[in-house]
Amino acid sequence: MIAVTGSRGQLGGELCRQLGDAAVGLDLPDFDLTNPEQVRERLGALRPEAVIHTAAYTAVDRAEEEPDRCFAVNAEGTGVLAETARRLDCPLVYISTDYVFGASRPADEPHREEDPVFPCGVYARSKYEGELRTLAWQKHFIVRTCGLYGRLGPNSPGNFVETMIRLAKQGKTLRVVDDQWCTPSYVPHVASAVIYLLRSGMYGTFHVVNGGATTWYRFAREIFRLLGLDTAILPITTEEYGAKAPRPAFSVLDTSKYQRFPDAPPLPHWKEALAEYLRERDRVDPPFG
Ligand SMILES: NC(=O)c1ccc[n+]([C@@H]2O[C@H](COP(=O)([O-])OP(=O)(O)OC[C@H]3O[C@@H](n4cnc5c(N)ncnc54)[C@H](OP(=O)(O)O)[C@@H]3O)[C@@H](O)[C@H]2O)c1
Repeated sequence: MIAVTGSRGQLGGELCRQLGDAAVGLDLPDFDLTNPEQVRERLGALRPEAVIHTAAYTAVDRAEEEPDRCFAVNAEGTGVLAETARRLDCPLVYISTDYVFGASRPADEPHREEDPVFPCGVYARSKYEGELRTLAWQKHFIVRTCGLYGRLGPNSPGNFVETMIRLAKQGKTLRVVDDQWCTPSYVPHVASAVIYLLRSGMYGTFHVVNGGATTWYRFAREIFRLLGLDTAILPITTEEYGAKAPRPAFSVLDTSKYQRFPDAPPLPHWKEALAEYLRERDRVDPPFG
């Protein structure tokens, strides 16, 4: 049995759906990463064959005002999990982020797993600290991904696609950042890749994102094109947008290490993945948004 933390979140929920009976989902309030005793007890009782750790403090801007809480969940909570996984001798998969490549070198080539990191902002630093805690246990995977969109959990604040659709319905002109390059990724594709990696037993760090690269403005334009919406949308800069937390200007991830597995689940181009999400969101009940 595989324990999945953050099982009511976007990625954790999808992992539980794909793993079916093989998964045991763990989440707040009865599994709280800031309560080490509870974490040790739950995992000790379950004795899972592996832990996939998706739970995190993910409110990137709020983290600037709550650094202690953010570090308690993402860094210290991950440390407790790593130490427990070591004690139980079970592999640990830690989901990390493209934000570790914050203030990067000039944007030209996608980042590889071994490239130096420059996490900027509280959330990015806390997630990187989570990576370091994970590295302390040999049987680990660190999977860095980016811009997740998928079926939302009960408390999820939303994802970028749903936010764009909601704002478009309000009929306003949208202003969307056009100077941050990355690869938004569709949760079911990332979940399949994570399960595949875990079953491969090839421990290490992997980048898992959809193909190609885009900016949030271009991504939003493609959402509206695919939905046939005539939404007015303007490109703006990161500075004009003025978010509290810094964002990477270029955090495109190189997935060639993952792609070297000949039978690994595919990571389709982001345009294809987005089209799949938009088809899927209308088919499920309740709808994603
Ligand atoms: N979303 C992205 O764009 C993105 C990009 C790159 C990497 N990542 C990483 O990918 C992973 C999954 O992201 P996601 O979008 O699926 O996240 P999500 O939807 O925000 O889900 C996170 C889950 O963790 C739970 N959680 C929060 N604090 C907790 C605590 N103290 N103890 C136990 N559980 C706690 C949340 O519960 P509540 O909802 O009740 O708070 C939620 O169910 C995260 O590790 C994130 O850092 C995300």
